[in-house]
Amino acid sequence: MSETLDIENILQYLTIDEKIAMLSGDGMWHTVRAGEVERVRMSDGPNGLRMVEGASALPATCFPTASMLANSWDTRLVERVGAAIGTEATAAGVHLLLAPGLNIKRHPRGGRNFEYFSEDPYLSGTLGAAYVRGVQSTGVGACIKHFAANNQETLRMYTDAIVDDRALHEIYLKPFEIALSAKPKAVMCAYNKLNGEYCSQNKYLLTDVLRDEFGFEGLVVSDWGAVRDRAKALAAGLDLEMPDSLGLSAPVLKNALESGAITEADIDRSLRRILELFDDVYLEANGDFDPDAHDALAHEAAVASVVLLKNDNKILPLTRDKKIAVVGELAQSCPIQGGGSSHVSAIRNVSPLDMFMRFGIEVAYFSGYSSDKEENDRRFEETVEGAKDCDVVVVYAGTPAPSEGVDRKDIALPPEQDRLITALATAGHKVVVVLIAPGAVAMPWIKRVSAVLYGGLNGQAGARAVLETLYGRYNPCGRLSETFPIDEDELGDDFGTRRTLYRESLFVGYRYYDAIERRVLFPFGYGLSYSEIVYDDMKIARDRDDYNKFTVSVTVSNKSMRDAYEVVQLYISDRTGKILSPQKQLVRYAKLLVEGESSATAVFELSEKDFAFYDTKARKYRVCDGQYGILAASSAADIKFAKSVHVRGDFNDKLPAPEAYKMPLREKITDENFRELFGGEFPEEAPLPAKGTFTLDCSLDDMKNSLGAKLVIRAIKRNAKSTTLPGSVDRDALLAFSMNAPLSAVAIMSDGTMTPDMAQGIVDMANGKLFKGLAKLIKKQKDRA
Ligand code: BGC
Repeated sequence: MSETLDIENILQYLTIDEKIAMLSGDGMWHTVRAGEVERVRMSDGPNGLRMVEGASALPATCFPTASMLANSWDTRLVERVGAAIGTEATAAGVHLLLAPGLNIKRHPRGGRNFEYFSEDPYLSGTLGAAYVRGVQSTGVGACIKHFAANNQETLRMYTDAIVDDRALHEIYLKPFEIALSAKPKAVMCAYNKLNGEYCSQNKYLLTDVLRDEFGFEGLVVSDWGAVRDRAKALAAGLDLEMPDSLGLSAPVLKNALESGAITEADIDRSLRRILELFDDVYLEANGDFDPDAHDALAHEAAVASVVLLKNDNKILPLTRDKKIAVVGELAQSCPIQGGGSSHVSAIRNVSPLDMFMRFGIEVAYFSGYSSDKEENDRRFEETVEGAKDCDVVVVYAGTPAPSEGVDRKDIALPPEQDRLITALATAGHKVVVVLIAPGAVAMPWIKRVSAVLYGGLNGQAGARAVLETLYGRYNPCGRLSETFPIDEDELGDDFGTRRTLYRESLFVGYRYYDAIERRVLFPFGYGLSYSEIVYDDMKIARDRDDYNKFTVSVTVSNKSMRDAYEVVQLYISDRTGKILSPQKQLVRYAKLLVEGESSATAVFELSEKDFAFYDTKARKYRVCDGQYGILAASSAADIKFAKSVHVRGDFNDKLPAPEAYKMPLREKITDENFRELFGGEFPEEAPLPAKGTFTLDCSLDDMKNSLGAKLVIRAIKRNAKSTTLPGSVDRDALLAFSMNAPLSAVAIMSDGTMTPDMAQGIVDMANGKLFKGLAKLIKKQKDRA
């Protein structure tokens, strides 16, 4: 740890220009050095350390992605994973880890869902807090992200999330609020707008809520390239802009100082936070970590995260005497993580097929499917026929790896895989599907197959964890941290648009399916094991001294010989009838080890705030007086016990919800209905810029009809062609970023390929100042030559 800095003294000797320079980064990953103050180095997580140097990243342990790790429902495990990543960070000289991601999985097509924990705020927040505790136990700071309502990748740097304040607090901000209890050093603001204002300059979000309501005292850092108006951002509460603004921000801040829009005190306030961060997290790189120990932890985490979704006639676990066909290209090489800023250069990676070999299990392998039509037909016949001699067919099925920057097109598997699985099952094979996917997948063949094991994107030890689970070395103990819907049709089309109305309000994930009373494929919280667990009893005791305090104990028994884990879930159901409420909400969970033929008890403490709702008028949490259900469940769709308790509250009014929100939700919520709930007019949709009004804030897509933009777009496409595979998500991500990010962001993220001057040249040309713009572009080419 550094000597404690004399921050006030440093502020005295810095000139105003030096101060302003310190408000944005130095290069992609550092803060600016100031006198005796070294630079703080930042690197991405969340499923491992991504320490980028030049064009590559240092090798690091690749842990299960957050979407899988969350299936463990195990805060201690998540804390240990956080600590391991923190250790790798200290070894590499990283001071601030840009993780965990705490956004809610609002829609199963969300392209970054794999980086996030859950659709449920409580599960996300408690796992997030555990992760933060782990990381920070090593001295490295954690930066929770992306604050807030960053729930889609399409147009992520422009889209406006229109969210009513109650849903904002109870669903989207809740994970952050919970994780703040672990005192993360930093919060990263999101790219998108929230209710009409960019998160990077949203005073309500960054100051009124984050500082005043939640009491956060640490550093607010921008997502990379998220700053639009630096002065407005500073005034709203954004301390550090990342990365280097390449000179774009300094004049904006200077002008704002001169005009009085900001003061030197505003600058000092943010600088103090930057310097305090340095003081808290600065450590010299300390060299080493134990990759074997971390691999063992990645394996433990992967084992804890696979979810057994179906197991008819106890076809699993497999035994070694069974003749096995392994089917699917994914068995030869399958994604273990997603693409984008979270992508880790994994130290190890063994394919599923090699894993069978390592374990000395002989299998007949068929590649099964191909995206090439003719090749697919050939493989299809060969597989259905060839698998005939086998007792069980294990199909590795899944979607291509997801990536930051691109939403999933749908939740279906590639059609050739659905067709093959159906054909294999129809031909009478016993089919076990191992699912490699970033989240929910539709399974039109579900009734025909014998078993499904969700192996997700499970990190560098994922293939081994899946194999050992298939063969029964481990008893599956993961539970879904998100709902798997039957299909996505019923979710409506408020997703992926430039202005996205969150008209479902509080009803996200299982809360939504409860509200529309629709069956799902696999519910939130669901997962099987190889043992039989029964729920024996739930007891509720009211505290003697505190009327609103309860101790709830739930006892479960294991009827089999085999030790198992059970995730006991406790939900609360508001039955007061006073306010709009989801049918039930998760408030506690416990992962219990239940030894063979014995029982175990989970004990939970509930207090007043577990029954509270966010009163948007009073701007605080309050409790409705009345009856509440306390439900013990093994999943959101399997309530084992429900009892009613009375809770005293200071809220006795009725807050009538708009008629259209009467439960169950039968009709589509119209704009009008949502406006009523939202409590006023929606913020106006920003008009698309036109010739003459383009600025660096506009994207190439906005300017695509101008000559300058056309030239650049052509060059970008050429580059994408030479650096990425056709049809790959990497190509989609590269193009999505280049086309749909503000030119200022493209410039500061392009590592010199496009300078701010060139970007300005493109803007000038698009505005009709052809020669002026061209001159800027040509000058750059000349400088380069
Ligand atoms: C991502 C962040 C990430 C940052 C730095 C951004 O594009 O949204 O999650 O931390 O880049 O890599």
